[in-house]
Amino acid sequence: MKKIISLIFIAFLAASCGQDYNSSSGDYSQYAPIEGIDSSTPDGVRLLAAYKVFQTKCFQCHNAWSAYKSSAQWTAAGLVSQGNTGGSLIWTRLKNNGGDMPQDPVAELTTDELGSVETWINGI
Ligand code: HEC
Repeated sequence: MKKIISLIFIAFLAASCGQDYNSSSGDYSQYAPIEGIDSSTPDGVRLLAAYKVFQTKCFQCHNAWSAYKSSAQWTAAGLVSQGNTGGSLIWTRLKNNGGDMPQDPVAELTTDELGSVETWINGI
């Protein structure tokens, strides 16, 4: 019996090794860098947060957007208007704002997700 308990303990220790982030609080997904996004600038940090929202809620259907790794690319694609949420398709088409995106079965954005997108657009 003792042996089994110590085996379980060792397995537990091994499983918790090598983590430099707190996976249960979601830190990793929030702050992990994404290749191609330059998060050394304030704009890059805001884009990274918004990109992660799109990754969760939009790229399933809008796969091509995943290639836009700078704010300038989103602007050039006509999806965002600098500093102007009301003029940004990516904002006005959201269910949260009376639009129809994301389409079912993907859930509408949470308040936090909306905040990330709004902060990014306003800061471009
Ligand atoms: C389940 C599939 C699906 C998901 C998820 C989805 N969309 Fe869409 N989206 C579509 C389809 C299909 C169209 C094209 C038809 C249309 O314009 O209504 C579209 C069109 C759009 C357009 C117009 C496209 C253009 O190039 O002019 C925007 C903007 C848009 N979606 C935003 C979003 C955003 C932002 C998200 C994530 C929050 C999202 N969509 C998630 C299916 C989806």
